[in-house]
Amino acid sequence: MSVLPIYLDGTKPLRKKAKPVSKIDDATLKFIMDMFETMHSADGIGLAANQVGVLKRIIVVDISCLEEYENVKPFALINPEVISEEGKCTMEEGCLSVPDVRGEIERPQKIVVNFRDIKFQEQQLIAEDLLARVILHELDHLNGVLFVDYLTKSKKQELKEAIEKIQNGDVATKYPVVTTQRVIL
Ligand code: NI
Repeated sequence: MSVLPIYLDGTKPLRKKAKPVSKIDDATLKFIMDMFETMHSADGIGLAANQVGVLKRIIVVDISCLEEYENVKPFALINPEVISEEGKCTMEEGCLSVPDVRGEIERPQKIVVNFRDIKFQEQQLIAEDLLARVILHELDHLNGVLFVDYLTKSKKQELKEAIEKIQNGDVATKYPVVTTQRVIL
């Protein structure tokens, strides 16, 4: 398995819409394993394929490091689609593609999501609270949306400098990244 560099805010793949996956072959499976490795090495709890520069509708999630979620096994969602949502809750979010920036975002409290697993079998999951949030955050990535897009005007203003620094490639991370300026391994 390999750790892939993570694309940061300002780079093109983060603003593109990923394409559905039509089948699972060995190369796709290896890519999904690399996504897990990449997410874990960056201490992330979710990662979307756009974040490693690949425009395929694939997400990996592992929230087992969090209290109360120890029993949720890491899993991949291929071609995920939210078919219903209810409730609202506000929680602080961050993103490996926008390092050291955090902000409170309102999202649905509960969702029903259809997806395919790594055997390309159809699955349905009812997710609430943090799990729903992670899936929605990652699904946004597949559509070219970043969590900072939802911030209020005043919060955006407050974080403007930090975000511009990232977009200009002036950033230090503990994991390998691709910035608008260069690849830092
Ligand atoms: Ni993210």
